[in-house]
Amino acid sequence: MAPSHTAHVLVASNRGPVSYEVQENGELTAKRGGGGLVSGLSAIGPEADALWVCSALSDGDREAVAQGVGEDGVRMLAIPADVHADAYNGVANSVLWFVHHLLYQTPLEPVFDAEFRRQWASYETYNRAFAEALAEEAAEGAAVLVQDYHLCLVPGMLRELRPDLRISHFSHTPWAPVDYFRMLPDDIAAQLLRGMLGADRLGFLTRRWADAFTACATAFAGGLGDTQVGVHGLGADADFLRERSHAADVEERIVGLREEIGAGRKTVVRVDRTELSKNIVRGLLAYRRLLESRPEWRERVVHVAFAYPSRQDLAVYRDYTAEVQRVADEINEAFGTPGWTPVVLHVKDDFARSLAAYRLADVALVNPIRDGMNLVAKEVPVVSDEGCALVLSREAGAYEELGEDAITVNPYDVEQTAAALHEALTLPPHDRAERAKRLAAAATALPPAQWFLDQLNALKALDA
Ligand code: G6P
Repeated sequence: MAPSHTAHVLVASNRGPVSYEVQENGELTAKRGGGGLVSGLSAIGPEADALWVCSALSDGDREAVAQGVGEDGVRMLAIPADVHADAYNGVANSVLWFVHHLLYQTPLEPVFDAEFRRQWASYETYNRAFAEALAEEAAEGAAVLVQDYHLCLVPGMLRELRPDLRISHFSHTPWAPVDYFRMLPDDIAAQLLRGMLGADRLGFLTRRWADAFTACATAFAGGLGDTQVGVHGLGADADFLRERSHAADVEERIVGLREEIGAGRKTVVRVDRTELSKNIVRGLLAYRRLLESRPEWRERVVHVAFAYPSRQDLAVYRDYTAEVQRVADEINEAFGTPGWTPVVLHVKDDFARSLAAYRLADVALVNPIRDGMNLVAKEVPVVSDEGCALVLSREAGAYEELGEDAITVNPYDVEQTAAALHEALTLPPHDRAERAKRLAAAATALPPAQWFLDQLNALKALDA
């Protein structure tokens, strides 16, 4: 696609709305993704001349770029694979993800050596590729909405190239507290903050993460300067979920899942990408503790755990995936009987089956160590047929909106989580239904389209 200088609304993110696969016959097939940004952008309509700039991630994506194949409104950047790997794996999903989610523990702590400096240089190159593409595509005075920790340097770089643009950056993650953020090398911490403060407006999912950013900017960058900070909580897409969860493929998965669960049993459901912040292992240990301490639940409950592999290029994510599998197997060996599998673990990503599990859920378990928002906590109450109970970590962003009607847990406290599972499984039906109704209402208060438009309008209003 030739540089256009015509787009009036631009979104930049590492992962884009579409991905390509090379079929055996060599043909390229496109698969569209979902999520808040996709429905948000569709809400502004095609006439707004919107463009989404993203990375080519798969072999198919790179082939599509090489062949000049693409969808209108999407520009994929074929960043050299080694540069992307350093930026995405080495910097973003190792160091930055771990810092914002407080995931370091001995012996995982970072070592900022020459190898890291090399990866950091790639992170800069990768961010510059985005800034240059956005500068080429944006019309005079356009609004540019940059997403997430992969692209922290883009606002500052783009501001230098195109001072006419209105630029925002949105963090979908938590933000680290000052004493944790200062783990980063001083110059890199300053560069990250300066990059983001190049934006006119910064968005966060909760007040807690916004305040943490402001504290870091105050401690390490002399304050926010002219940059505005806003909070935009993202809600579940009720209309989409209610319709999609009754489609034929979901009904089919329900039949299969019911067979795996067995008749008359309660279900505790969790659905996550498999990574350390989701705290899947402690969730399994809590379920194990429930079976140990309250034998009356044996044969009467099944933990349906979907843990979809994520970022498998990194050993720490692969090891965690293996650990989840190991602990689930151990529970099944220790407690399982010929007619009862206590943990039904699936690792192959299947959205229809996730929705089927949501529909069957009596209890949803969402216990992250720390999470920007966690949309599963918001989706299950909307979709569950009988209105589920929610066991929710107080460290998830969603807790600010759902905490009152959820059963709260400290994510590190396995004993407490086991007790919370028991409480959730035994909530009186009327109480459970009433809570589920209020949870669903709170969860859908800010649909993705509104979330996106609010940010866009706030950005445009800045120079009104
Ligand atoms: C988090 C991030 C997103 C990211 C998603 C999936 O939610 O905030 O930016 O796209 O995880 O991770 P992945 O590395 O597969 O894109």
